[in-house]
Order: sequence, then C-alpha cells, then structure tokens
Amino acid sequence: MFKEIELERIDISGEVPVEEPERQYYYMAKAKRIVEERSAQAGRALTACIKTFGCQMNARDSEKLRGILENTGYRIVEQEEADFVLYNTCTVRENANLKVYGHLGYLSNLKKKNPQMVIALCGCMMQEPEVVEKIRKSYRFVDLVFGTHNIYKFAELLVTAFESQRMVIDIWKDTDRIVEDLPSERTYAFKSGVNIMFGCNNFCSYCIVPYVRGRERSRKPEDIIHEIEELVKDGVVEVMLLGQNVNSYGKNLEEPVTFAQLLRRVEQIEGLERIRFMTSHPKDLSDDLIQVMKESEKICPHLHLPLQSGSSRILKIMNRKYTKEQYLALAEKLRAEIPELSLTTDIIVGFPGETEEDFQETLDVVRRVRYDSAFTFIYSKRTGTPAAAMENQVPEDVVKDRFNRLLSLVQEISQEMSLRVQGQTLPVLVESVNEQDANLVTGRLANNLVVHFPGTAEMIGKIVPVYLRECRGFYYYGETVNAQDGTNSRN
Ligand code: 5AD
Ligand code: SF4
Repeated sequence: MFKEIELERIDISGEVPVEEPERQYYYMAKAKRIVEERSAQAGRALTACIKTFGCQMNARDSEKLRGILENTGYRIVEQEEADFVLYNTCTVRENANLKVYGHLGYLSNLKKKNPQMVIALCGCMMQEPEVVEKIRKSYRFVDLVFGTHNIYKFAELLVTAFESQRMVIDIWKDTDRIVEDLPSERTYAFKSGVNIMFGCNNFCSYCIVPYVRGRERSRKPEDIIHEIEELVKDGVVEVMLLGQNVNSYGKNLEEPVTFAQLLRRVEQIEGLERIRFMTSHPKDLSDDLIQVMKESEKICPHLHLPLQSGSSRILKIMNRKYTKEQYLALAEKLRAEIPELSLTTDIIVGFPGETEEDFQETLDVVRRVRYDSAFTFIYSKRTGTPAAAMENQVPEDVVKDRFNRLLSLVQEISQEMSLRVQGQTLPVLVESVNEQDANLVTGRLANNLVVHFPGTAEMIGKIVPVYLRECRGFYYYGETVNAQDGTNSRN
C-alpha cells in the first residue's frame, strides 16, 4: 500500500523509474516540489477542487485523483475558486456533457481573475474525439485533458502540465492494465467504493460506456481483498464493490473466479460490517449469487437490477440478451428467496422505435416487480452507438408524456414499498449530521433507505438500531433504541 513518507525519500534528480507504481511515486514527489515552490511564491497554500459528474465509478476515481493532489501538497477545497480545478466528466447522456460545457464557461471567468489557475478535464467525456476537438478549439484556457484509461498516470500528467505552456492532451483508446497501490482520499471515513473490475463488454445498443471505458478487466481477488483489509484497518465498515457488470467478474482472470466466490472471500474480512455491490446485469445473475446473498450476514439485501425496457422486442434491439419473461422470472425468484430484498432498477423511455404497446410492457413489469425505487431516463442519442443511427427516433412530446406516466407509477409503488419496514427496529449506518436540522443525524438501512433520527456527530460511522417511526415517502423519521432492552429512546 502507498505510504506518504515514501515521497520524501524519492530522489527526483535521479532517473525516472520505468515500472508502475514507482514511476507515479516519482512524479508525485516531483509535483510536490513544484507545488511547494509555487505556494512559496504565492505566500499561501495552493488549493485544489475536484468536481465529479456521473456514477459511483467516477466518484471512486475522483477519490484517487484527490489522493494524488493531496499528496502533492494541495489543500483540497469544495469551491471552484481554486488554484487547480479538475472536472471528472460523464457522457452517458447528452445532459451530462452540456453540464460540463456550462461549468467551463464559469471557469474561464475565474481564470481571468487568477491566471495562475490550472484547469484539467478527465473522465468518460474525454474519450470522445469530437469533445476533445471542441475543447482544443473553443476552450483554449484548459491546461490538461486526459481520459479514463490513463488516470493512474495523473501525477505524471500533472508535472507535464506544470512544465508546459500549451494544452496537454493525453487520451488512450483502450488499455489492458490495472495499476495497484496508488493513494486515495476517501470522501467518507467509514465507507468506500472498491473497484473490482473496469470496462464493459456488453455493448447495449444505446450505451456509450463500452466505448469510453474499454473492455472488461477484473482485478485479482488478492488485490481486492488486500485493499478492503486496509480500508477496514482505516475505519471503513461498509464497502461498495464496483463494476459495470459485477456478475461477469473474474471471467478473464488467469485463474477465473466468480463474483459469488469473491463475495464469499470478502465476507470473511473481520471488522467489515456491510457489503454492497453495483451493477448487476440480469443476463449474468447466477443462482450461486442468490445463495451467497441469502446466507450472508454482511451482504446488504439490496440488488440494483437494470430493466431498461419491459418489451422483449425492444430488449432485443437494445442487445440486452434477456426477455421480459426471463426478467420477471428472475425477479420472482429473488423475491421468493430473499423476501426482505430491496430491488431497484434503471429504465429508459423513448428508445428508437418504442411504441405505446412496448411502453405498456414496461409499465407492466414495473407493476409486477414492484421496485423499491427506480431511476428513469429519457433515451439520449449517443454518437457512435448503434441506436444513434436508428431512424425511428421517438418524438420528444411522446417521450416526455411516457416519462411522466412511468415516473408517477414508479413513485407510487416506491412509496408503498418503503412502508414495508414501518414500525420495525433495524440497524442504521449513520452517515452525517442532518443538513436541515443539526439535532438529527442521517443514515441508511441495509436496504438503502434513508433514515433521519435524533443523534450527534459522534455517531457518524456507527451502526445503531433505530425504530422506524414514520415513513415520509422515500425516507424515514426514527428513534434510537436501547440495544439491550429494545425500548425507545423516548420511553
Ligand atoms: N440514454 C438514456 N439512458 C441511458 N443509460 C445508458 N445509456 C443511456 C442513453 N443513451 C442509462 C441506463 C443505464 C444507466 C446507468 O444509464 O439505464 O443503466
Ligand atoms: Fe452500458 Fe449495457 Fe455495459 Fe451497462 S451493461 S455499461 S448499459 S453497455
């Protein structure tokens, strides 16, 4: 594992190491020297801000980027009025791109006030050649652009950008390497995402992820276990195992391991209390995984199982490789095997050629599965994907109308499902002091529902039994109970 002191020992006048991660340690030491000089000139500590767009993978990547910036001597701040600003971008839907362009306009004004400011862009959006071209031409104040495959080289790129007068652009088309043992700076002391694999091989016809995140690569189980053990030593009680399709974990390893086998090993880690994972592709969900979830003391009873569409016809064009009936059978099996399971999903409306009948099939699945919650998306055309070239795009007003109808059904069912645990006393992992009311703390049940209850900052990171008094739609108000006698704190 990475240790901070190692940087001090590195001789940066010597030769640059060829091997990773030593090469990056060398560049971190070098960047640190440059940051020290610049901050001496400025007469104050230099600040850095990372803004993350998109999914949990990006959030985890940002923790790694933050770890490197912190080790090079930057003081991390929330505001973009900083000496170094990095946007970790998302491109899964067009809206994500538009947000980044909007923010860049704001950054250009900040840079006018602070010409020493360094602006960097990375993440999925940067893997699209048209985006990089646009930035090169129209956003010339940007200093550094890199992609998803060379993120481990951030320290090296940072030094290159410091030493260059021009925009530094380094984008790789793909990679088969995974560099271990780089630092990271967690957002939460008590929980962490842990990558178990990178990339996606599924090529759903609407999705840009396989193009911008590359082919599937799994980390070795030993590396994953070691990382989690270190996290637990550092106070982490909950991990979220991350991958675009965790159910195909380990297939391409030299010694193949299944996701269920990995979970069994993670379960053994002493001190770890909760295990979550994301995302599961329905086509690869094994009976063995259901069995592990059922037996486990630590795996949370929550499964995110993207449906995308309820129409078998559309699912085929989406290249999802399951039918409506297969999905329903799987959901039924899950509900029967793990009754307390919280099932959540992603649904796209307005995929090219979607008819009212297809949409009705989606509503039918939602009514039958009764999701605990669902993310609903309006189909967004992504250049380069097969669906973008399909001619029968659905008119905007039709899509909006379907979206609203789906949303109200999803919300109605979700509220009913949330009521399932009312009146029970269940363990809650306390995450923060409530933003609106400082007398309350906010935490999550194992099934991922949010609970607010009276408490103090000292409770953050602890798992406490909470009586679920009142359900307010998608969250609860509760009260702590005395763990010994099960009585209410009010009594
Ligand atoms: N348009 C709309 N939603 C999309 N998603 C992926 N690609 C698109 C797209 N082109 C959604 C899927 C996926 C989630 C992460 O984003 O539902 O599960
Ligand atoms: Fe995209 Fe499909 Fe891969 Fe998920 S499984 S990232 S939706 S291609």
